[in-house]
Amino acid sequence: MENKSALLVGASGLVGGKLLNFLLASPEYTKVLILVRKPLGVKHPKLEERVIEFEDLAQYKDCFKVQDVFCCLGTTIKKAKTQEAFKRVDMDYPLEIAKITSEMGAKKFLVVSSMGANPKSTIFYSRMKGLLEQKLTEVGIGSLHIFRPSLLLGDRKEFRFGEKVSGFLTIGLSFIFVGSLKKYKPIKAKAVALAMYKAAQRNEEGIHTYLSNEITEMS
Ligand SMILES: NC(=O)c1ccc[n+]([C@@H]2O[C@H](COP(=O)([O-])OP(=O)(O)OC[C@H]3O[C@@H](n4cnc5c(N)ncnc54)[C@H](OP(=O)(O)O)[C@@H]3O)[C@@H](O)[C@H]2O)c1
Repeated sequence: MENKSALLVGASGLVGGKLLNFLLASPEYTKVLILVRKPLGVKHPKLEERVIEFEDLAQYKDCFKVQDVFCCLGTTIKKAKTQEAFKRVDMDYPLEIAKITSEMGAKKFLVVSSMGANPKSTIFYSRMKGLLEQKLTEVGIGSLHIFRPSLLLGDRKEFRFGEKVSGFLTIGLSFIFVGSLKKYKPIKAKAVALAMYKAAQRNEEGIHTYLSNEITEMS
């Protein structure tokens, strides 16, 4: 077994929190490093937590010497308040982390994007996700894994009205998500996290993009 190390950003989030549990429980990783804005309050012998300033990622280069990088960062326009601030979190930070980790020798980069990601979309959110995907493919990462989940299901600390309503509606209508509509079916955050963990254990070079139904099948 290799002595692998993982870097996880977004560990305090819905997907990132589940992924952190998988990484800490895994015998594959001897070190799990998380970069956070405030302490998570999780204690584990394998866990190394660094509270950092994301606006100044380059100064933490020493942290970026890992094998596998997991990115679950993201915000909402409501929280970010401006499109520019949203772009920093959903596109600029992931891209900068990918560039630095790649430079420092990381072999794999796994990132949560979104269903509908498209660099030419007229919808700002989908365009940001699409642009992130496009720019990541240009970094030259040996093994890039892009996850495009549909609506995420899971217990969130904060209340997101749109998510709750869509979640209830789509669960009630889950029978319609068959055939070509399967990729629209809401997905548990835990399933996304498990699929990310599993993809990292495969030694597959190249660029891999997973639609929501494929993520469900992997988990
Ligand atoms: N919600 C959905 O239905 C859905 C659907 C498809 C795709 N996605 C995408 O899936 C990804 C993960 O979603 P999620 O629901 O797990 O996210 P989440 O629960 O909102 O967690 C987001 C993570 O990003 C971090 N973050 C936010 N703003 C930050 C900032 N300014 N600086 C540094 N870190 C920051 C948060 O840290 P703090 O705790 O410090 O804020 C948290 O760890 C996101 O990219 C999202 O766009 C979501």
